[in-house]
Amino acid sequence: MTGGKAWGRRSFLAAVGVAGLAGCAGPHVPPPSPSPALPHQGGVVDPALARTELVAFDVTARDRDGLAAVLRALSAPMAGVTATIAVGASLFDGRFGLDRPRRLAPMPSFRNDVLDSQWCHGDLLVQVSADTEEPITTALAREIPGVTPRWRLSGFHPGGEARNLFGFREGAGNPEAADARLMDQHVWVQPGDDEPAWCAGGSYQVVRLIRLAMPIWDAEPVATQERVFGRSKDSGAPLGQARLYEKPDYANDPGGRVIALDAHIRRANPRTPGDDARQILRRSHSYRRSAADSGQIFVCFQRDVELGFATIQRRLAGEALEKYLLPFGGGYYFVLPGAVGDDFLGATMLSGR
Ligand code: HEM
Repeated sequence: MTGGKAWGRRSFLAAVGVAGLAGCAGPHVPPPSPSPALPHQGGVVDPALARTELVAFDVTARDRDGLAAVLRALSAPMAGVTATIAVGASLFDGRFGLDRPRRLAPMPSFRNDVLDSQWCHGDLLVQVSADTEEPITTALAREIPGVTPRWRLSGFHPGGEARNLFGFREGAGNPEAADARLMDQHVWVQPGDDEPAWCAGGSYQVVRLIRLAMPIWDAEPVATQERVFGRSKDSGAPLGQARLYEKPDYANDPGGRVIALDAHIRRANPRTPGDDARQILRRSHSYRRSAADSGQIFVCFQRDVELGFATIQRRLAGEALEKYLLPFGGGYYFVLPGAVGDDFLGATMLSGR
């Protein structure tokens, strides 16, 4: 717990029903290699749909054949939805003798986190998106032997450069997801990366379940809110600029007079040389579980979770936004490469190809 936190964390925890508070316990950026045929799953670089549900599972199947049956079932097309299947670090604990993506570790507890182990990790993560709720509910109602649900949360996204629950537009600082070369550089693991061969075409996915302190935020004057993010609430432009996609001018603002040094966008991306090497693709959703519990399902994808999310998250420690956030769950996962031909998702992970 951080001192001077305006927000009563204890009462918050009681409200969410957080029971056991358990901490869910070398840079390399080779240039992108031309890889036209790398297979990818949907639900990563395509635009976010209106509804998304995340379900983390633990695998109860005892051997590789059982795990193959699970992955085969999850690979079966589901009507009207985009499903994205990822694996968690715990799947590589030796039970199945699998070759682990090198940077896949259990998500650590960061400075402001109050992680509830019931809302963290999982052997598998299934992300299901659609324009409406109904096909998602149908897809997730299927009985899949060999897995047991660990946590699930459903989110929504108003589309485009949507506003989050704090009323600010999101997405402007994202790399252009339609630019395949950029996605190869920042999102997809490439052949020749320091990774098992089966990982090429996959991506590290980070999920952070973050409750937002809505009443405290809503009571702040707009000028304070803008100082916290470093952007205008109305236009979304960086403070000091007029338009959404203009870049903040940190070089001429070393003391933080225009954009505070602890503003979210300045900490997240100080735009110093080298920051370009570690861009992440953010694809967050909002959630609302009750009047007193709403927030953000922060999701991001990257080629290297340590260079990407973890580096940025450590830099965010002490940012002005911190006191309005309560990260209580999530995990690190690896999105399986797309299936080739008749293969199921994860077939190459199981065969070691
Ligand atoms: C509930 C939590 C969060 C909220 C409400 C939030 C909101 C925002 C907003 C409004 C922007 C400016 C518009 C944009 O570029 O999308 C932004 C930018 C950004 N955020 Fe967050 N964010 C949150 C958590 C995080 C986390 C956990 C990370 C990564 C560790 C992160 C990384 C970034 C990055 C890299 C940018 C772009 C900065 C730039 O290029 O100037 N954010 N966020």
